[in-house]
Amino acid sequence: MKKNVLITWWLGYIGSHAVVEFEKNWYKTVIVDNLSNSSIEALIWIEKILGYKPDFFEVDIRDKNKLEEIFKKYNFDWVIHFAWLKAVWESCLKPLDYHDNNILWSIRLFELMDKYNVKNIIFSSSATVYKEKFVDKNFNWYTENDLTWDCTNPYWTTKFILEQILRDLSIHLKFRVMNLRYFNPIWAHTSWYIWEDPNWIPNNLLPYIMKVAIWELPYLNIFWNDYSTIDWTWVRDYIDVNDLIEWHIKAFQYIEKNNIDLWFFNIYNLWTWKWVSVLEILKTTEKVIWKEIPYKFVWRRDWDLAEVYCNREKAYKELWFKTKISLEESLRNSWKFYNNNK
Ligand code: NAD
Ligand code: UFG
Repeated sequence: MKKNVLITWWLGYIGSHAVVEFEKNWYKTVIVDNLSNSSIEALIWIEKILGYKPDFFEVDIRDKNKLEEIFKKYNFDWVIHFAWLKAVWESCLKPLDYHDNNILWSIRLFELMDKYNVKNIIFSSSATVYKEKFVDKNFNWYTENDLTWDCTNPYWTTKFILEQILRDLSIHLKFRVMNLRYFNPIWAHTSWYIWEDPNWIPNNLLPYIMKVAIWELPYLNIFWNDYSTIDWTWVRDYIDVNDLIEWHIKAFQYIEKNNIDLWFFNIYNLWTWKWVSVLEILKTTEKVIWKEIPYKFVWRRDWDLAEVYCNREKAYKELWFKTKISLEESLRNSWKFYNNNK
């Protein structure tokens, strides 16, 4: 007997992993996606892993009537909100699309949640909300309490605004919000059936590197090398998606166990606490897969942050957050996956 009914946006990269793992942990999921950045094929793979197909609706979050029919049909306990436009550079070209898709229509979703008394939500926020600052790395990492206004790109602004809206809802409408700020998720599901599968040429670093490694793309474009970092290329904290999802479930169970009735708005950074430059990722991949990966230094990608990493105390102390999978292992597994499926 399944424990809960969750509604989620899943055919994308992180959502598809979440559905599989929540279902395996005995939570029922209902999936809604407009397939704008995902493929129906993922449903077949999910069925292969689980042995059955979770309920799926091809619906745009902007279609409030259709969404309401789904809310009427199920007695939801939770929403896991993954539906988002997420490319930083694209958000600078199309800021109105990003505000429209990510904010306005999330509000329509929250209206339905309020109307049908579904007040629990896990929200996928992002490390992008942290303002860039060059700090003494021993002491001054970002904490969840650091102010994140002064956004430099619309993607960031949409995450920032949504966090503020959810905070208001937690105070005034008694929503319980688990606001998870991911660092950079990489790799695929341990079953190797689901993976990061954007509909176009990948924006994100790891799938791009792998497509170069299997000769689908000629070389990696590295977005310039004049940043004040260890080797002048961008620095990030890359977290394996399997670790990331395990912590969604732990965070989720933490809220359920504590059964907090009063307002609740909790932010956690989810990271590995290892920061790695683009060149380091490239070199580590080459070492792990025994293959050279051609690259070129090209134009700067506008509005990106040079370094993104954070303080680890809160998730560690409250949720006992720890990651298990090393970067090398993630890259090795990623390679196995791409190499087998080319
Ligand atoms: P993704 O693009 O793979 O998945 C998002 C899904 O939302 C896609 O399947 C897309 O079709 C769907 N979608 C978008 N707009 C929709 C709409 N109007 N109606 C219905 N469905 C819609 O992205 P992802 O990497 O899985 O990211 C999931 C969440 O995690 C996003 O909120 C993203 O901002 C956040 N996040 C991602 C990363 C990362 O590096 N991947 C890092 C931090 C935070
Ligand atoms: N990069 C390249 N070449 C590429 C792709 C990326 O050099 O072809 C570099 C980028 O400049 C950046 C790093 O690799 O320094 C990582 O880039 P990604 O595009 O993979 O990731 P971002 O850090 O820019 O953004 C990602 C997601 C956001 C999320 C953020 C959290 O796209 O949605 O991580 O840190 F919010």
